[in-house]
Amino acid sequence: MKKEKLTIFGLGHIGLPTASLFAKKSFKVTGVDINSQIISKINSGISPIIEPGLDELLKEVVENGNLIGTLDGVDAAKNSNIMIVIVPTPVDENKLSDLSAVTSACENISQGINKGDLVIIESTVPPHTCEEIVIPILEKSGLKASVDFGVAYTPERALPNNTLYEMTHNARVIGGIDPESTKKASDLYKNITKGEIVTVNNLVTAEMVKLMENTYRDTNIALANELSLICESLNIDVIDAINAANYHPRVNIHTPGPGVGGHCLSIDPYFIVEMAKNKGSPAKLIETARSINESMPYHVSNLVEKELSKIDKSTNGSKIGILGLAYKGNVSDIRESPSIDVIENLKIKGAKVYAHDPYVSPDQIRKIGACSVEIDEVLSCDCVVLMTEHDDYLNITPELVKSSIFICTRPILSPEEFYNNGISFKGLGRFFSSKSN
Ligand SMILES: NC(=O)c1ccc[n+]([C@@H]2O[C@H](COP(=O)([O-])OP(=O)(O)OC[C@H]3O[C@@H](n4cnc5c(N)ncnc54)[C@H](O)[C@@H]3O)[C@@H](O)[C@H]2O)c1
Repeated sequence: MKKEKLTIFGLGHIGLPTASLFAKKSFKVTGVDINSQIISKINSGISPIIEPGLDELLKEVVENGNLIGTLDGVDAAKNSNIMIVIVPTPVDENKLSDLSAVTSACENISQGINKGDLVIIESTVPPHTCEEIVIPILEKSGLKASVDFGVAYTPERALPNNTLYEMTHNARVIGGIDPESTKKASDLYKNITKGEIVTVNNLVTAEMVKLMENTYRDTNIALANELSLICESLNIDVIDAINAANYHPRVNIHTPGPGVGGHCLSIDPYFIVEMAKNKGSPAKLIETARSINESMPYHVSNLVEKELSKIDKSTNGSKIGILGLAYKGNVSDIRESPSIDVIENLKIKGAKVYAHDPYVSPDQIRKIGACSVEIDEVLSCDCVVLMTEHDDYLNITPELVKSSIFICTRPILSPEEFYNNGISFKGLGRFFSSKSN
């Protein structure tokens, strides 16, 4: 069977691995991006993204000519039969969706689309975006959706740092404007994933599935965070309690932390809130969960202030060391990271902030407003705050810590060891006492 020609709009964390995987399966793939530096790097076979396995894969598919990058989306669309849109979908300062990248990619496609083509949206979007925004733009071509061209929506759920494995093994949800679009999209993705293809009734259901998944996780983390604050006031160790509660066969409480970052969990619930409000349906729980998670960085900076006051120091003028800028362990992504808010709060309170992250460049650290230093220097500050669960930090022992206060916002180090060495070790919702049995 003749392979379809693909164009993928957006060569970022999700678009580039997707393009490379299809190219590896011998599809002729054109990748479109608006960033010329990204395009020239990709065309030289160099990945602009740190992702295990991607460097080798990209080099191979660029060298064999199956993947080529371009800035010209209209020309790319004219010369393909399937166009996939994987561009960013952030929220603005009012927490409303910014779909400008999706509309701009679709404008390009509308100028190049031909009869019989299929357009697939993979960007995470508010419910009804395909029907109410994407299709009207595509129909500016003079062609009619479902009559002249197909439309499908499929969300991506790959985990950074394990993206290639998850893209080729996770189940994939697909909903189309009609059964033919759903089938064509399903047949396409079967080329790159061994995972189950789960088809749903229509476009909007598939859009909603992605938002429900991330809202479930964000809400669960908010519950864990609220429980951690309650446990803190009750002198109960929240991690001990959650671990025990999770032995219940139907309980799975997530892990509390300093807030929720990244491009998905901290944004996607707002897409539901926005559409629910438009339709007059309240999203109280989802909004509350967001506000709990967004309050956690303030809790961390207040904790710093409280612990410093115990040794007669004030945040103003103190040196605070931050371990980890990335929003989660072993990744370089700092988008929406709680560390950014913690640093900002501490600086407002007059602290001098020093930071280390093995995955984040000194330049990025300085842009956030902290001095970029080696780990030793962080561990010598008046107070150390561990924000990210990088593997590099698992080996921190009390002997390495010159500070008398260590605030550990992730449950990755053993508190007892620090206590026994005279360091005031504080966790979120942590309470340490000898076991009663
Ligand atoms: N990163 C993740 O873990 C993840 C997981 C699931 C879903 N998603 C969703 O996938 C989408 C893309 O996310 P990402 O993390 O890959 O973003 P990203 O920021 O890493 O990459 C997006 C790329 O799109 C390019 N771009 C912007 N506007 C464009 C346009 N009009 N035409 C062509 N290219 C354009 C950017 O230059 C950038 O290179 C988002 O909707 C996101 O919510 C991301």
